[in-house]
Amino acid sequence: MQDLAIVTGGGTGLGRAIALELSGRGHPLLLVGRRRQPLEETARMAGGSCEVVSGDVGTEAGRAAVAAAVGQRRVAMLVHNAAVLEPVGPLAGVTLEAWRTAMQVNLEAPLFLTQALLPRLAGGRVLHISSGAARNALAGWGAYCVSKAGLLMLYQMFNAELTDVAVGSVRPGVVDTPMQGLIRAQDESRFPSVERFRRLKQDGQLRSPAEVASFIGWLLFETTPEDFAAHEWDIGNPDHTAAWLQSRRAKSS
Ligand SMILES: NC(=O)c1ccc[n+]([C@@H]2O[C@H](COP(=O)([O-])OP(=O)(O)OC[C@H]3O[C@@H](n4cnc5c(N)ncnc54)[C@H](OP(=O)(O)O)[C@@H]3O)[C@@H](O)[C@H]2O)c1
Repeated sequence: MQDLAIVTGGGTGLGRAIALELSGRGHPLLLVGRRRQPLEETARMAGGSCEVVSGDVGTEAGRAAVAAAVGQRRVAMLVHNAAVLEPVGPLAGVTLEAWRTAMQVNLEAPLFLTQALLPRLAGGRVLHISSGAARNALAGWGAYCVSKAGLLMLYQMFNAELTDVAVGSVRPGVVDTPMQGLIRAQDESRFPSVERFRRLKQDGQLRSPAEVASFIGWLLFETTPEDFAAHEWDIGNPDHTAAWLQSRRAKSS
């Protein structure tokens, strides 16, 4: 019985690309998301061993469904990729309900899903998909920025407290996914920087999900646990990508 790799938000965007990267490396997968259809589409694309669980990772019931699907198997990799951008708009008008939903998905889910799976994760790796928003306040993205800042500290806390699980964090850059479509569709009155993101798309500056997934695959499979956890990895930092690019070149030659 081979160890599992779990990818939350595996039905679309970066999560789908990560799933394909991991299955390409021969790893059995368990994909999680609220909508079953995109998960099943990813599973078809991945071929091989790929299970899907449709559930909301922001709820106890959703996380319990993931834990039940894992059963007694070992989890080699857990990628906390699922996240929501909304609510978008000034914090002055944010509702408690919308704020809590964002925190439940973007912050509570990585904490409590890791916690639920700890007995299965010994010797494994957990990866948080971070963002520049963890460190940079962008007007209109209050809930997203605060949740990603919390996720960055959660990665550091787990590393301070866990001894037999390596926890990593990665900044994927600006990636061509449905979330970027949602960003570009925002009204400038609620998200003043929207034009910058529209221009990035027009100018072909977005990274492809497959490119980012290749970097993430390298991080998960080809770094030591110590290097994996040592600092937040950033695909935009040439010092962080040199070894990955070298490994890619070696494979293609
Ligand atoms: N795209 C970028 O430029 C960019 C930049 C920095 C960081 N990121 C991060 O990259 C990750 C992937 O985002 P993406 O750009 O690929 O966006 P995306 O396509 O919108 O992906 C988000 C995924 O999360 C799932 N999801 C959302 N809420 C969920 C919930 N409550 N329970 C389970 N699954 C849920 C969604 O599926 P369902 O709707 O079916 O649940 C979807 O598959 C996120 O953590 C995001 O913050 C993205």
